[in-house]
Amino acid sequence: MEIVEYNNELLKIEFITSKIVRFHFSKDRIWKKNYSFCVNLEKFKEVDCEHREDNRAHYFLTSDLDIRIYKNPSKIQIYDRKGNLIISDYRDLGYVKKGNGIYSYKEMGREKAFLGFGERLGALNKKGKRIINWNTDEPNHEFERDPLYQSHPFFLAYSDLSYGLFYDSTAFSYFDMGFESKNYYYFFNQDDELDYYFIFGPSPKEVIENYTYLTGRCYMPPLWSLGLHQSRWSYDSEDKVYKIAELFRKKNIPCDALYLDIDYMEGYRVFTVNRKRFPNFEKMIGDLKKLGFKVVIIVDPGIKIDKKYKIYIEGLKEGLFCKKKTGEIFVGYVWPGKTVFPDFFKEKVRKWWGEKHKWFIDNGIYGFWNDMNEPSNFSKFDYYMMKLLFHVLHFKEPPDPFKAKNFEERIKQIKEKTLHQDVIHGDDEIFIHNKAHNVYGLMMTKSTFEGFREIKKEVRPFILSRAGFSGIQKYSAVWCGDNKSTWENLYSSIVTLQNLSISGVPFVGEDVGGFWRDCEKELFIRWIQLGVFYPFFRIHTAKNTRDQEPWSFGEEIEKIAKEYINLRYQLIPYIYSLFYEAKEKGIPLIRSFILEFQDEEVLSHEDEFMFGPFILVAPVYLRDKRERDMYLPKGFWFDFYTGKRYRGGSIIKVLAPLNRIPLFLREGSIIPMWDVQNYVGEKKQENLYLKIAPGEGRFLYYEDDGISWNYENGEFNLIEFYTFMKDGNQYLGIKFLKKGYESPIKKIIVKTFKNDFNFELKEGEFLIT
Ligand code: GLC
Repeated sequence: MEIVEYNNELLKIEFITSKIVRFHFSKDRIWKKNYSFCVNLEKFKEVDCEHREDNRAHYFLTSDLDIRIYKNPSKIQIYDRKGNLIISDYRDLGYVKKGNGIYSYKEMGREKAFLGFGERLGALNKKGKRIINWNTDEPNHEFERDPLYQSHPFFLAYSDLSYGLFYDSTAFSYFDMGFESKNYYYFFNQDDELDYYFIFGPSPKEVIENYTYLTGRCYMPPLWSLGLHQSRWSYDSEDKVYKIAELFRKKNIPCDALYLDIDYMEGYRVFTVNRKRFPNFEKMIGDLKKLGFKVVIIVDPGIKIDKKYKIYIEGLKEGLFCKKKTGEIFVGYVWPGKTVFPDFFKEKVRKWWGEKHKWFIDNGIYGFWNDMNEPSNFSKFDYYMMKLLFHVLHFKEPPDPFKAKNFEERIKQIKEKTLHQDVIHGDDEIFIHNKAHNVYGLMMTKSTFEGFREIKKEVRPFILSRAGFSGIQKYSAVWCGDNKSTWENLYSSIVTLQNLSISGVPFVGEDVGGFWRDCEKELFIRWIQLGVFYPFFRIHTAKNTRDQEPWSFGEEIEKIAKEYINLRYQLIPYIYSLFYEAKEKGIPLIRSFILEFQDEEVLSHEDEFMFGPFILVAPVYLRDKRERDMYLPKGFWFDFYTGKRYRGGSIIKVLAPLNRIPLFLREGSIIPMWDVQNYVGEKKQENLYLKIAPGEGRFLYYEDDGISWNYENGEFNLIEFYTFMKDGNQYLGIKFLKKGYESPIKKIIVKTFKNDFNFELKEGEFLIT
């Protein structure tokens, strides 16, 4: 660590690795911030760096970076070791204090695009845009609406020298990425110190790898959570849940998870069961388990004020709820009416909350869905309005709460509507709400995760969260909240999930079929075809909307839906292996073209993406379309369905009848696949199929027991499959890189587009032409 002067402040510089450098500025020459909600600084040992100083500047050299801090005027510049400028402060405006706010300006240089920023609507590239960090329950996902439920003050600046900046500030903040001027971009935060990390690539993948090295990576999800999840607000009685489960099995449509939304509770009181609707809840969970279903239940943070309700009484007695500066408990309005909020910033609260899951876990619930944790808080008026609209008038979508005329008005509205500025949090560290708001959901989810691990040590939980902050991937999957059954929102999901993935969160998805409004059949099937390639694949819809199960849109749609859900189940070994890469390196499953290709064109095609290294997905997002234009990046490609070969580097027209989403395999693809099954674990998967495209490629196949934490003790296998050409023939190589688990595989069945070949699973090189 080094400390230097910067304007009239002090600047602490820490070298986390040779490519990750922390810049922490003092405020009025002192540092008060000595915490982070997502970076575990104790984990890192600083790396060596050479320090030199002269009249003009301080010079710091790591093995990858050349950092110069000029003295008069103050200015930070970072070069690579070849002398290329990567990033520079804009003039001497790297640190500007105005009242309670801090601005940090950077020069607009070689950056072609800015991506990431977490969960965002609008175009993939945010150059020229402004972006707000304030977790907001936003029910209207129209184009460029901002912000949504999560805050990730991180972006990836894309160029030949890609880098990332992560501002470790939980306070209200925003980015101006060249909206105000073409010459600079800046970050603003209110109330906090300026504490950011420069993260070098130079490739975009390396930026993500380094960013997640800093903020954490996911764990291996339980295998069942990679299947289909079926949800609605709400399957609100035992009968309904049984009926859905039985229909899935009767129709042989694979499905692993069924959801209980807020109506399973007694008057929306968390950790209760409504016994009128679910008289035999425990038995139901057991029966569903026999049918191969896991049940995921919703858990909201808001606790109903009710003097007879155990959770409320306990929390009140123990002082577990959020308070205002005056000492008074803060009261808001959510689904249960008048509500108090647990203060997840206290360790005692997190522990208490975690323990509350015990009864459910003991009864076989391994999936928890944390919702409304921005935290969302309605006003009294909105609450009664919502009741009237949804329960009496059977509305299918709420009125738009944030119809702002401009940026400033939007900031005012979201801050007024979402929470209570005078609340304070924590005990040792007292946080004003402005600094706690954006991490409230992260803390809730952490508490759920840690509670689960305490209670059921041997099983990996599935946790789903709506709100989040950088690092959420360590605890949970993320879905992007309340979209609509519109073509526009099907489209926006393609882009939003790319940026969220770039932000280090691999386990992501959106409500398939759309949440608000009635879905129509064509939209539904196009969304199912796309949802197969969401890492988190869940159908969900709002109260009062029409049914949204795979069979709800007639026979033709059901048949196509089944075919694609089957495909999803076949792809599970590919998906699971990709999660291993996400766990080890932070590389997401949904990959923007910039992560996989270097060619010039890749930025202009945000409506396609790579699913892992091999599968190119070109979704259909317009009504009545039976073909689409799409770009194939340079190289050779093979139509997934027919094997037809294409030369990339140009835009082509492809057919997309209703029963086909355009999919292409990259040359050298090796896709491990399973036989279809009704749910994960139904069949012992003794056959491993390898779908192989011509060319040379490599895939790291991962397997373990799919449910326990034993992989942490080395109980897993890593098998390298590779293909190569020799004398005009194609060969498959098999190599064990790690053997720690007894593989169920008895047979490897290679499927080229022309032939099938069977092998035993053993090391060697085999002819497959
Ligand atoms: C929120 C969630 C939605 C859920 C509803 C009722 O709107 O985003 O998914 O169904 O609350 O719990």
